[in-house]
Amino acid sequence: MKNFNYHTSTKILFGKNKINEIAGEILNYGKHVLITYGQGSVIKSGLLEKVKTILADNDIKVSELGGIQPNPRLESVKKGISICKENDIDFILALGGGSIIDGSKAIAAGVKYEGDVWDFYIRKAKVEDALPIGTVLTLAATGSEMNGGSVVTNDETQEKLPISSESLKPKFSVLDPTLTFSVNKYQTASGVVDIMSHVFEQYFTPDMGTELQDNIAEGILKTCINEGPIALAEPENYQARANLMWASSLALNGLTGTGKMMGDWGTHMIEHEVSAIYDLTHGVGLAILFPNWMKFVLNERNAFKFARLGRNVFGIKEEDEVLAANKTIDAIRAFFSSLDMPAKLSEVNIPEEHFKKMGEKACKFGPIGYFRRLNDVAVTEILELSK
Ligand code: NZQ
Ligand code: ZN
Repeated sequence: MKNFNYHTSTKILFGKNKINEIAGEILNYGKHVLITYGQGSVIKSGLLEKVKTILADNDIKVSELGGIQPNPRLESVKKGISICKENDIDFILALGGGSIIDGSKAIAAGVKYEGDVWDFYIRKAKVEDALPIGTVLTLAATGSEMNGGSVVTNDETQEKLPISSESLKPKFSVLDPTLTFSVNKYQTASGVVDIMSHVFEQYFTPDMGTELQDNIAEGILKTCINEGPIALAEPENYQARANLMWASSLALNGLTGTGKMMGDWGTHMIEHEVSAIYDLTHGVGLAILFPNWMKFVLNERNAFKFARLGRNVFGIKEEDEVLAANKTIDAIRAFFSSLDMPAKLSEVNIPEEHFKKMGEKACKFGPIGYFRRLNDVAVTEILELSK
């Protein structure tokens, strides 16, 4: 296990009606809040009205930015930055899933920067400071509620790029599982795949001696495998939604990656290229790509790690490491299919046309992946396997 510093600064307010505590939290940072939300789910659920009432009752002034898209666009981010600058906003409250939270983080960083906020995403500038943000999570998936990551899409350049900064970690996040009751089957399943993928990205690394982290990772995977189908069958099952919600945060708050050099993240980088061009739901892209990444990188030296996962998570009994590894990958594919996730890019109408371009764009800053380094040709091959 490598040396590490671990600091999770986000305060989690977990459970039913925890929304009632937000005013006190916000008042630690400011009195004029920009509420951000997406394309209407928080209006339909009544969450927006409820939050506005709570803030009004506590003399907290509110501005609004709605309409942020899934795969949030730079355009919305720029709109948010202008609203903040023109109105002296001192806190951003994101109501929604990962897209709303990521867009809000971009706004928070952009407000404190003189240049173009896109500079952060193309690695021209580093986030040094940001407005404080809080979140009310409505979809269990990305972990953005408890990390410093933000992924934004630039439609003009067809790029979808990530940044990460300590100063973008939410000050608090409300995790009320009942707020996810209304998430439809498709988004629930995509969320489960995303959570599992975050575990995979940090599980499949060349590091040794991280028994505890890998056991936690396997626990999160088992939770997704047990609770995911329950949430699909019974959308209002509190315990299933609660377990998935907490799994979302724990899968990507740095915990399972501690003591390791870094995560792999190759599959995420490839998925971002696919959704940059085709606006695909993130978890759906991962469901298609991850088993193919696994098949592509599997070899005799690393098979033991796949086999371990298969034995501990799926109960695979096979003794031969490579055979067990292959059975593990098949079990993961079968689980994703049981959630009605597609297995091929052609099923979501994505043709081969841009595979080479996606390979080149994914490796724009150099080869990707840590478990196995991938150059543009390798990325294109994984996309070919996924067609
Ligand atoms: O826009 P609204 O109306 O809110 O509807 C959303 C959207 O259509 C809907 N939804 C959310 N909560 C709901 C609900 N519908 C009914 N009831 C609710 N309670 O679900 C749809 C998808 O929402 P979105 O926020 O896009 O989903 P998700 O949380 O999966 O976020 C995906 C984005 O996060 C990025 C992805 O690349 C993608 O852009 N990621 C962010 C990460 C991070 N910051 O750490 C890591 C991830 O790997 C990921 O890359
Ligand atoms: Zn993800």
